[in-house]
Amino acid sequence: MKVLVVGSGGREHAICWAVSRNKSVKELYCAPGNGGISEVAEIVKIGSENLNELLDFALNKKIDLTIVGPENPLSLGIVDLFRKNHLLIFGPNEYSSQLESSKEFSKLFMDKYGVPTATFSSFTDFDSAKRYVNKHSLPVVIKANGLAAGKGVKVCNSYDEANIFLQSLMEDKIFSKSGEKVVVESFLDGEEASFFVFTDGQTILPLDSSQDHKRLLDDDMGPNTGGMGAYSPAPIIDSETRENIMNEIVGPVFDGFKKEGIDYTGILYIGLMIKNKKPKVVEFNCRFGDPEAQPLLYRMQSDIFELFYKTAKKELKDYVLQWKNSFSVTVVLASKGYPEKSNLGGTISQLSN
Ligand code: AMP
Ligand code: GLY
Repeated sequence: MKVLVVGSGGREHAICWAVSRNKSVKELYCAPGNGGISEVAEIVKIGSENLNELLDFALNKKIDLTIVGPENPLSLGIVDLFRKNHLLIFGPNEYSSQLESSKEFSKLFMDKYGVPTATFSSFTDFDSAKRYVNKHSLPVVIKANGLAAGKGVKVCNSYDEANIFLQSLMEDKIFSKSGEKVVVESFLDGEEASFFVFTDGQTILPLDSSQDHKRLLDDDMGPNTGGMGAYSPAPIIDSETRENIMNEIVGPVFDGFKKEGIDYTGILYIGLMIKNKKPKVVEFNCRFGDPEAQPLLYRMQSDIFELFYKTAKKELKDYVLQWKNSFSVTVVLASKGYPEKSNLGGTISQLSN
């Protein structure tokens, strides 16, 4: 088997590591990869958003399975493009990936199918957004509608903070088109956790729980980041909470997919806020979490290549996922300045296994 993994983060390193353990995987490529990944896969110098170059590479090499790590290529339609060219690829198509790439799309979907989440309104007009926000109770949550590398959301504790963020999104356009529309939400109180399901469109395979920690500093201090570490399992998702997640969220979401004709294949990431065992959805993502993928993949006993392959082939029926009866944790080391402005290109040395 020849496998191509698209992406360059810790998540893609974990995916490459896990996939490389299957003996039938004879060639493993990662585009654009990173220094660590080069230990387990051959690095291909194509950016994850260069869809046509990725397609040419996959066709030339006769890749058997492409696994997409990050959200950007999904939202640009890599899955549609590869399928049109008869290549097997893991991930949702462009239409379905709007669940992540448009906050408004996902909120309207949740509203329609009774999925518990924060109340919201969306705006394209700055003055209307401002009027609404300044009458909203505090804290008020303001979100850029489109993708913004995890930086497009602010939980605002004062109207000054809210007005400044609105201005930067809608007038100064710091996230260009992504912030032209904003979603304004009420604040959800509780503890956050991440819940993932693999699905081939018919069968739903929920994973064990995991939790990432978003604040930069110890003791939940400092700004939100993409995640400073994660562990699995997450004690907050006990069996009762898990049942509530399955019945109140996963069930209605997949009913909604059926009714809307959404053929969702890949991983659905459900970002949750949990209070008194009652989960509410903070967001959907259309891919594995980074860093949650790292501790989850480490704990999987099953053959992970087979899991990705069967999902993409729509052969998940009767698949039983096995877990190691263990705990795992990932700690993120970030370069100075993260998440505001990181120093890039430094050398990491003296690493040992
Ligand atoms: P999102 O990109 O929508 O997941 O938002 C990023 C982060 O902002 C989340 O992980 C939460 O920490 C926080 N957040 C987003 N929406 C809300 C909300 N309605 N209530 C409380 N916190 C939120
Ligand atoms: N760990 C958060 C994310 O992957 O979006």
